[in-house]
Amino acid sequence: MRNPMVAGNWKMHKTGEEAREFLSAVKESVKGETVEAVLCAPFTALPPLREALGRSHASIKLGAQNMHWEEKGAYTGEISPLMLQELEVDYVILGHSERRAYFHETDAEIEKKVFSAFAHGLTPILCVGETLAEREKGETEQVISRQLQGLKNFPKEKISSLVIAYEPVWAIGTGKTASAEEAARVIGWIRRQIFTLVSEEVSREVRILYGGSVNAENIDQFMAEEEIDGALVGGASLKPESFVKMVEIAGRRKGR
Ligand code: 13P
Repeated sequence: MRNPMVAGNWKMHKTGEEAREFLSAVKESVKGETVEAVLCAPFTALPPLREALGRSHASIKLGAQNMHWEEKGAYTGEISPLMLQELEVDYVILGHSERRAYFHETDAEIEKKVFSAFAHGLTPILCVGETLAEREKGETEQVISRQLQGLKNFPKEKISSLVIAYEPVWAIGTGKTASAEEAARVIGWIRRQIFTLVSEEVSREVRILYGGSVNAENIDQFMAEEEIDGALVGGASLKPESFVKMVEIAGRRKGR
């Protein structure tokens, strides 16, 4: 049974103080939920979030949005897995399309990051997805297949904890979503790739989220799809009330 997840990717939003305010607004409402609620905050907001959350809150987890694969070195401006370990984050988003597009991250680099995250006890949320041009050329599967090639090399004992987020680039921040059926179709296809590249068992265990203009009004249609294990949400995760609402809706559909 896959544990459903609603993860907020705050991107470059919220100071430490704003993050604290957000947390105090959502903390109690999210407590009894049976879905995992994850806050992927900017690095500087993670320590105040961890402090305010403590370790005892069962339903809210913390995540980072990127990291370098090396533990230390001359990499100005980067953050290492050891530094994230120290912040006690559970998850790290890797290969987000904004990292791929604006910071030219390659599949090979993202693969090294996923390895390193696993080696340091962090669970990667690996993002994949096609651009509009690629979709229009009918290349969706080909692009995602390339982005998933690292799967066959990842450590066998860790890989079932991996979270994959299918985020079609044309749906991110645009207000346009893939239809729930289309998102479920691509996610089903990703699961079959995992079957082929890794094993049937792992393909049944890996959680696959949909991301791209998800909000409190449309999340239910995605959660209604058997194939979709949750959502990675940008803009709509910034407001406490819409975050709580999305967690509640996901919990009603998928919670245990
Ligand atoms: P939006 O929900 O703002 O479209 O962003 C999606 C996303 O990129 C989450 O990682």
